[in-house]
Amino acid sequence: MNKKIKILVLNGPNLNLLGTRESDIYGKKNLTQIVQQLVKIAKKYKIELEHFQSNSESSLINKVHQSKHIIHYILFNPAAFTHTSIALRDALLAVKIPFIEIHISNIYSRETFRSHSWFSDISNGIICGLGEEGYSWALKTAINRLINVDN
Ligand code: DQA
Repeated sequence: MNKKIKILVLNGPNLNLLGTRESDIYGKKNLTQIVQQLVKIAKKYKIELEHFQSNSESSLINKVHQSKHIIHYILFNPAAFTHTSIALRDALLAVKIPFIEIHISNIYSRETFRSHSWFSDISNGIICGLGEEGYSWALKTAINRLINVDN
């Protein structure tokens, strides 16, 4: 039954630089390593995991649109678009796919402009400040929720 479950990991701008980018804040693991870890977890549950990263707002919006009726849950780190993108917010509202907002760093303990998110109030949960492990926690939560709904 779980075979049909599809989860999208969606990453916004500059997250392709993880591992080298401000590693004191974002850690030393690169995005490929993070995704590999997630794929391992997903495989255990026979869940299909797709990953998409883009530095472009329009590509992220298009990906959200294309996910309608295909993806059951999105794990989303909007990166800097967290604080700016009403367009991405609207895209998520349009497709009505549940999503967990993820931030590697604690956005509330940094510059004040990072304290506002255009996604938190429409998200199904927020993980923030747990480092790259936040992605694994978010995935486990999404799987639990999807499996419980299916049962
Ligand atoms: C981030 C936090 C954002 O403020 C920042 O612009 C990012 C990454 C995080 O994962 O901590 O690029 O979303």
